[in-house]
Amino acid sequence: MKKILDLITEELEQAFEEAGYEKELAKVTLSNRPDLCEYQCNGAMAGAKKYHKAPIMIAEEVVAKITGDGSIREAEAVKPGFINLKTNPDYIAGYLNEMAKDDKFGVEEEKNPKTILIDYGGPNVAKPLHVGHLRSAIIGESIKRITRFMGNRVTGDIHLGDWGYQMGLIITELRKRQPNLPYFDDAFTGEYPEEPPFTIGDLEEIYPAASAYAKEHEDYREEALEATFQLQNGKRGYRAIWNHIMNVSVADLKKNYANLNVEFDLWKGEADAQKYIPDMVQRLKDEGYAHLDEGALVVDVKEETDTKEIPPCMILKSDGAALYDTTDLATLVEREELYHPDEVIYVVDKRQELHFIQVFRCAKKTGIVREDTKLTFLGFGTMNGKDGKPFKTREGGVMRLEHLIKDITDKMYEKITDNRTVAEEEAEKTAKIVGMSAIKYGDLSNQAAKDYIFDVDRFTSFEGNTGPYILYTIVRIKSILNKYKENGNTLDDTRILGAGSESEKALMLEAAKFGSVMETAYQELAPHKICAYIYDLANAFNRFYHETKILAEEDKAKQKSYIGLLKLTRDILNTCIDLLGFEAPERM
Ligand code: ARG
Repeated sequence: MKKILDLITEELEQAFEEAGYEKELAKVTLSNRPDLCEYQCNGAMAGAKKYHKAPIMIAEEVVAKITGDGSIREAEAVKPGFINLKTNPDYIAGYLNEMAKDDKFGVEEEKNPKTILIDYGGPNVAKPLHVGHLRSAIIGESIKRITRFMGNRVTGDIHLGDWGYQMGLIITELRKRQPNLPYFDDAFTGEYPEEPPFTIGDLEEIYPAASAYAKEHEDYREEALEATFQLQNGKRGYRAIWNHIMNVSVADLKKNYANLNVEFDLWKGEADAQKYIPDMVQRLKDEGYAHLDEGALVVDVKEETDTKEIPPCMILKSDGAALYDTTDLATLVEREELYHPDEVIYVVDKRQELHFIQVFRCAKKTGIVREDTKLTFLGFGTMNGKDGKPFKTREGGVMRLEHLIKDITDKMYEKITDNRTVAEEEAEKTAKIVGMSAIKYGDLSNQAAKDYIFDVDRFTSFEGNTGPYILYTIVRIKSILNKYKENGNTLDDTRILGAGSESEKALMLEAAKFGSVMETAYQELAPHKICAYIYDLANAFNRFYHETKILAEEDKAKQKSYIGLLKLTRDILNTCIDLLGFEAPERM
């Protein structure tokens, strides 16, 4: 379906042409004076110069051509030359009825669907999942759902950090604690045990202990680096430990992400890319892209137009070790080979931007990706505490994700059981669902690149621009629809009629905007646009609800129309929160 704004624009274009002016002047926007009109056009002012005529005269001539039977009911020329527009209630109702017939509400999918790979989540195996990884998971999941909704072939890849120094640390600490394990016996040639020598609980304790110890003890650090090196060079016993770490951690990560409603299609990681490194490096050397710089192998990526210094991409350290740059380049080699993506979107902390500028430039320059492959960096800001500093626990440590979810869920549970009479097990389930909306909406309602303050009290409030408020609105609509059904009616034969009141019209106009909102949210990869929209839509609904007797309405056709509008509002809200990655409960 065409967007409502485009339909209004087309009608105004015709009026401009009929009045003898070029149609390019008919640019329609949402009104910035909603008290006066719904849409507006400033084209007469733009045309004044070209046609040597007072703008108000042009506006008046255009307005005279509007019949009032199309999408525009009323057009008014206002000095010095604005054209104020009010839509036709019957036309809007017809538009909404069309929207309601389609499960995507008339949104047109991408005409040339793309193969998109989204790199998000990015947790580091064996390190606890903390709030720093929360944003990537939440934003990435929403981007995945939005791009998929628009008809693209989208794959989400968690891109585990599973190849670094943390692995060497764990191996070193394990050897210190249990030196007699067969993994440390170089003479051992048998099969290693299937059972891991640690649990996830052990790992969670081992890593921080080893990491802290290494900071104080140089020889221990050297040992861990050496272990990392040997692991990366295929030492059998270490590979076996690595497998255990992976199995134990990935099972735990899967549980955590499932709790967050975040679903990855691929569970690949840095380790998977390693086998692509030797050939890649050889080619970069052979084709003259890479050169030695103080012993390190680098590719220059600076460009003439740079305003700040962009250092070369580091391919190999002087000791021959691969780096973060190397792994990300090799991952692109792998992705090109296996998936051939048209676009790769990285949802990563914005402090890593320089790294991605280097990697993208190097990948393009050296032909690792095709010329027309789009590489997108979606950098996000920091999640801060109320003190404006990166979010921490009360004790000052890094907040574990599980604890954060638990804190919010407990808070929600208190609220739900305080206010209402809900059965125990339902209250628990509901608290979890609503808590998730508080966390995700609290994050997504901000422009991703900005830092934001994680404010538990505000995010869990049932009022204001919050997830729980949106869910509360959906639950309210569901409850009205349920009562309507309990009164012996069906929901199947509704038909939306032209609005009879200001608040009803305002709600209808909000609902009609869905298509434009989706288009922008998709083009700009901006879930916050969806949040802003559903907040407006929920507000418009609540105003309508307070001013309208829906269940007591005696005119049956009118009541059916209200019910139709409620259903559509509920469905749009549900679709939007699904795109944001959360859901609504039955009651709350
Ligand atoms: N594991 C990394 C970190 O915790 C994030 C990975 C981002 N993705 C990538 N392809 N580099 O910082």
